[in-house]
Amino acid sequence: MIPYLNPALAVEERVKDLLARMTLEEKCDQLLQTTIGPDVNPNNVGDGGEFRPTIGSILSYFGGVHKRNEFQRHAVEETRLGIPIIWGMDVIHGWRTGFPVPLAQACTWNPETVEAGCRIAAKECSAEGIDWTFAPMVDIPNDPRWGRVMESFGEDPYASGVFARASVRGYQTADPSAPDAIAACLKHFAGYAASEGGRDYSYSDISARKLHEIYLPSFHAGVDEGALTLMSSFNDVTGTPAVVNRYLMTEILRNRWGFSGFVVSDWDSFRQLKAQGFSADPEKIAIRCLSAGNDMEMVSECFKLLPGLVRSGRLDAAIVDEAVRRVLRVKFRLGLFEHPYTEERPLEATALLPAFRETARKAAQQCAVLLKNENDLLPLNPDSIGSIALIGPVAADAAALVGNWRGNVDPATVPTLADVIGEYFPHSRIVTAPGCGFESAGDDGIDSAVEAAHKADIILVALGEEWNRSGENCSRSDIALPAVQRLLLRRLAALGKPIVLLVTAGRPILYPELEPCANAILHLWQGGHEAARACFDLLTGACNPSGRLAMTFPRSMGQIPIYYNEHRRARPDQGYYHDLEESPMYPFGYGLSYTRFTYSDLTLTNELVAGVKVTNSGERRGTETVFLYLSDPEAELTQPVRRLIAFRQLDLAPGESGIARFELDKMRDLAYTDPNGERIFEAGEFVLSAGGLTLHFDCR
Ligand code: BGC
Repeated sequence: MIPYLNPALAVEERVKDLLARMTLEEKCDQLLQTTIGPDVNPNNVGDGGEFRPTIGSILSYFGGVHKRNEFQRHAVEETRLGIPIIWGMDVIHGWRTGFPVPLAQACTWNPETVEAGCRIAAKECSAEGIDWTFAPMVDIPNDPRWGRVMESFGEDPYASGVFARASVRGYQTADPSAPDAIAACLKHFAGYAASEGGRDYSYSDISARKLHEIYLPSFHAGVDEGALTLMSSFNDVTGTPAVVNRYLMTEILRNRWGFSGFVVSDWDSFRQLKAQGFSADPEKIAIRCLSAGNDMEMVSECFKLLPGLVRSGRLDAAIVDEAVRRVLRVKFRLGLFEHPYTEERPLEATALLPAFRETARKAAQQCAVLLKNENDLLPLNPDSIGSIALIGPVAADAAALVGNWRGNVDPATVPTLADVIGEYFPHSRIVTAPGCGFESAGDDGIDSAVEAAHKADIILVALGEEWNRSGENCSRSDIALPAVQRLLLRRLAALGKPIVLLVTAGRPILYPELEPCANAILHLWQGGHEAARACFDLLTGACNPSGRLAMTFPRSMGQIPIYYNEHRRARPDQGYYHDLEESPMYPFGYGLSYTRFTYSDLTLTNELVAGVKVTNSGERRGTETVFLYLSDPEAELTQPVRRLIAFRQLDLAPGESGIARFELDKMRDLAYTDPNGERIFEAGEFVLSAGGLTLHFDCR
């Protein structure tokens, strides 16, 4: 048997054998990715790609399994070496079964939920011929004007790392060669979320300290978990575009972190170097991008020049070999040589299975954040409600529940709030009306909605962002809901009935104007396929809200950027805006429950095991996320006021107590990262805090 085709041999041996057999052209073709057919990403203006059977990768879902197998047959059976193609696609929060958007998933604070969602997405998309997802996005945003906050796990670097790991486990599993496992791609490396003013694709000026302290740890966590690929980003890192940043992709990623998979560039990012003012010369771009550490060019143009550059002596063949080695390594690890084809199965057998929808429903229940619950209006008792009005543009809109980057989720299969409300209030008179459109008055008008609502015992107002208001290239100078929706809420509030406000959005929105108009507020995010049922599960108390914000909600646009882990200031009591209350509208970690949790006994042993007792002192079972923060009051490099170092969930019956225990590590948890990325431990005083308790301790 030819060694590289022998699955009994180690991957490195197979790579070595195959590489030795390849011509320069065959090698360089492995570094190309083409796109075929229509792209799911409307921002990607592509020329459509050129297919050749020796190509490394295809970014497309065009034609499904049948087409994949046809292309793959050309590659595997009609080329000299039969190297399989790897199919990549944006599978961001589900493929056929829609899960909450990643920012919402982070608000579950439940890594198992995140892992389970990615696992299902991997099963569904691998069944349709996708080997590799361009996810998770582990950029750290602190500016909700940036539309891509929806794809992130929120503002905290540590939490983002935990969810990066969970995603990698879910997509790749312990055995990435399993036919239903796919390769993950940590993106966008690095600092993309720092785009100035939240304007997508803009310049980002990132200090070395911030790079290492904030932007890199989530990538490091994902690499440590075994992510097979990364995507380089569009932005600049203080003058050097990320896509030609050797420090990032070679010194840090490969030399320091030992990453052995491959890096793909982002859509057209090589040619964008012209617009960024780096170079318009495709040859120079090809040399610099490859040498910096990109291995595959998404929608390749510049890498087509690689063979000529090697032949003319301008590019060292060893650099090409190294990149090819990385691409082949991933193909072997994914088992593509053993199972290049995808079995053609009916969709009913692979997609939207009842168990998948059930998992999506749990995720949607866990991600919704209860922001207000005046006089315990919620949960509602359906037996005591004679009539109920469901008003707002989200009421009968499925797409708003799913959000952007929805893969192949078909909104026609997603039940809306209006579809399911009757299941929960079988004895109530129910009226529904949109009241207005998402952005404009719409046909039915506010008056008729107010008229429909005025006889109801309670009004549910379902407002939100239209599905594509958040996402890539969806920057906004104002994150308030559109004026017409705010007007609708004010008009309904004037009726003087109890109001429950339900909000779908892919980002934090401005609540100050909405808050006084509602007695209860549930921020649903974009919860996916079962968001509507999950919403009513929560409203009726079938389950207890446990979501907590993974991103700070500001009071006004002028407060942005705002995030919980800000660094200490010179005058803690001065310097705040004179025209605004200093606190955020809803802080990081905020979220109410139908029960109460009381904290006591925050302790720390000499072995650095922290513990805190939590008691459910209310009347309902509930899940509490215990956040453990660290402060370091004195250090050579100033520290954030506090930073999250661990979190854990406790599920407690009424009256029950539990202890959240955390094994801390001096270098991991008490040390800080310096501008070179080194961990520095300074002996001295530290402060732990959890649930309003603090504990001062000394560590040498
Ligand atoms: C986005 C990436 C995405 C790629 C392919 C780019 O515009 O920045 O996140 O994976 O397109 O759709």
